[in-house]
Amino acid sequence: MNVRSAQPQELDEVFLMGYDAWGAGLPVQMFLDSCLASYKYKQGTFYVLDDDNGTLLSSCIVYPLTAFGGVVSERAVGIGSIATMASQRHRGYASIFLAMLMESLECEGVDAFFLHSDISPKIYQNLGFSPAPERFRSKSDGSVPMLRLSGGREVTRERWQEIIMPTYF
Ligand SMILES: CC(C)(COP(=O)(O)OP(=O)(O)OC[C@H]1O[C@@H](n2cnc3c(N)ncnc32)[C@H](O)[C@@H]1OP(=O)(O)O)[C@@H](O)C(=O)NCCC(=O)NCCS
Repeated sequence: MNVRSAQPQELDEVFLMGYDAWGAGLPVQMFLDSCLASYKYKQGTFYVLDDDNGTLLSSCIVYPLTAFGGVVSERAVGIGSIATMASQRHRGYASIFLAMLMESLECEGVDAFFLHSDISPKIYQNLGFSPAPERFRSKSDGSVPMLRLSGGREVTRERWQEIIMPTYF
């Protein structure tokens, strides 16, 4: 399996991985058009996990965190829109994908990973993410901000005090 950035011609397939979660009842083409036009998506880079034949399995977007007004560290990134092809879920692909992606980004010097979990955070805790204290959580959307530091460093209580939380992405 390979982790790599998505090719422009793969973006429709990437967007459709999350259609059931974020489609908001839009017709498919309207949803794809809105993804392609999204200002938010233009701020980041989509990555994919493919099998060795080039078939796409999972995807996500990686943002420089400064794009969202929050500072975890100068070399932190935000991970969003994590999705696996509906027919391929519950086989461990998202977990493998994120582990491989974060390892490779750490080698490039990224020192912290941030995400907002819309689902039960267990899958992310298993990957080394820590949930933010209650005071950082939005009451309106119910998502849980989570942080993972490079090199297996612990997110201490003092570290949470220092953080300016990036807005939802
Ligand atoms: C969440 C998602 C990316 C997981 O992909 P995956 O390849 O199936 O993930 P893995 O096989 O590595 O891990 C599966 C685990 O994720 C967790 N999980 C998956 N979907 C979940 C959901 N809707 N709510 C809570 N936990 C969920 C479960 O713990 C699951 O374990 P199980 O297979 O034993 O039930 C996939 O379900 C998906 O694309 N969902 C739609 C988009 C979405 O909601 N993304 C998350 C945004 S934070």
